[in-house]
Amino acid sequence: MRITMIGTGYVGLVSGACFADFGHRVTCVDTDAAKIAALHRGEMPIFEPGLDQLVEASVKAGRLDFQTDLAGPVGEADAVFIAVGTPSRRGDGHADLSYVHAAAREIAAALKGFTVVVTKSTVPVGTGDEVERIIRETNPNADVAVASNPEFLREGAAIRDFKHPDRIVVGADEERARKVMGEVYRPLYLNQAPIMYTARRTAELIKYAANAFLATKITFINEIADLSEKVGADVQEVARGIGLDNRIGSKFLNAGPGFGGSCFPKDTRALVKTALDHDVPLRIVEAVLAVNDNRKRAMARKVAAAAGGSLRGKTVAVLGLTFKPETDDMREAPSIPLITGLLDLGAHVRAYDPIGMELAKHDLPDIAYAVDPYDCAKGADALVIVTEWVQFRALDLVRLKEEMAHPVIVDLRNIYRRDEMKALGFIYESVGRGTI
Ligand SMILES: NC(=O)c1ccc[n+]([C@@H]2O[C@H](COP(=O)([O-])OP(=O)(O)OC[C@H]3O[C@@H](n4cnc5c(N)ncnc54)[C@H](O)[C@@H]3O)[C@@H](O)[C@H]2O)c1
Repeated sequence: MRITMIGTGYVGLVSGACFADFGHRVTCVDTDAAKIAALHRGEMPIFEPGLDQLVEASVKAGRLDFQTDLAGPVGEADAVFIAVGTPSRRGDGHADLSYVHAAAREIAAALKGFTVVVTKSTVPVGTGDEVERIIRETNPNADVAVASNPEFLREGAAIRDFKHPDRIVVGADEERARKVMGEVYRPLYLNQAPIMYTARRTAELIKYAANAFLATKITFINEIADLSEKVGADVQEVARGIGLDNRIGSKFLNAGPGFGGSCFPKDTRALVKTALDHDVPLRIVEAVLAVNDNRKRAMARKVAAAAGGSLRGKTVAVLGLTFKPETDDMREAPSIPLITGLLDLGAHVRAYDPIGMELAKHDLPDIAYAVDPYDCAKGADALVIVTEWVQFRALDLVRLKEEMAHPVIVDLRNIYRRDEMKALGFIYESVGRGTI
């Protein structure tokens, strides 16, 4: 199969590289010339474990290339995937579909022969209809079917997720589109990955329902964590106790600083907006958003409380900036409202992240950056663990304590044991496990 990927970001580049690895001939297109130039030099424009080797191997084998102009590769493609961004629209929280619509218009003009145009971007129900309308209006002679194939990969484990998905969802109303999509995913089907064919609108809704459900699970356990603190229970044991029930499942039950990232916040907001437009308010998802926003704001106050009440003039060390480990992605990272809150409370902030500091400097220009966790801790009155990078799980705690002015640790990911921290003489605050 010949595949063209429009948008070479976290989803487009990983999907394109994996499709090429399956044996398809793939061109990844992006309007960002700097990104394409970097890829031509063999440099990855994003951090994703294993991606550089995967890209290098497929480029060498002649199955993967990168371009800024989509006309040639779209004309030759059996399937064209749209993997451009769908951020929150400024002002109202709807998904901003301007990149998707622009891509549809450009694709339309370049189509030759029968082609399946597939939205892989996360798009509200009915977007496939609009993409089809745009294509037919721009190029009335196009022989095209429009399908939906939402992506479920997680940054940091994206290649594994793409190659071993729990399921593949294909929303296609035409049989010939299903046939092409079956060929595209045949290597995975041979690996027993279930392919679920649905109507296009159903596929679009599956993606939002999945993200809203996962965001709900996280928010639920976060509220149980708050209650645990008040009643003297341990939220991690509560989570294990409920998660071992197969009807509930143990994933996404880690209490923390509130969900962030490139998907959950914007997708839950967009789903709420779609539902309101259809006069079916989704009260649970609305509550999830409100609870999560409050929580992120509350984290700075939690740090202040651990540090004795006031942060004015104090130095706070922050470990971890990206929204999760193993990615450089800073989009809606919980570290941003936390650090903004710390600055508002009068603190000086010094931060360290193994990968995310360059991107973080755009969002957080007014803080200091350290070269390692111990440098970060130097003279600090409190240290906050925000992202659970594996490097932070086995710090030399004795050395860390020696570096700090006051041994106060706020562990927002519960990566350390309370008894161990107490024995070392720390004032240790975590999430849903009480203070020691
Ligand atoms: N990041 C994730 O973990 C993830 C997971 C599942 C789904 N998604 C969804 O996938 C979509 C893409 O997300 P992402 O994180 O990869 O975004 P991204 O911002 O990393 O990448 C989007 C790319 O599209 C390019 N682009 C925009 N308009 C273009 C055009 N007309 N032609 C060619 N390129 C164009 C941009 O330059 C950018 O490089 C979003 O809808 C997102 O919700 C993301």
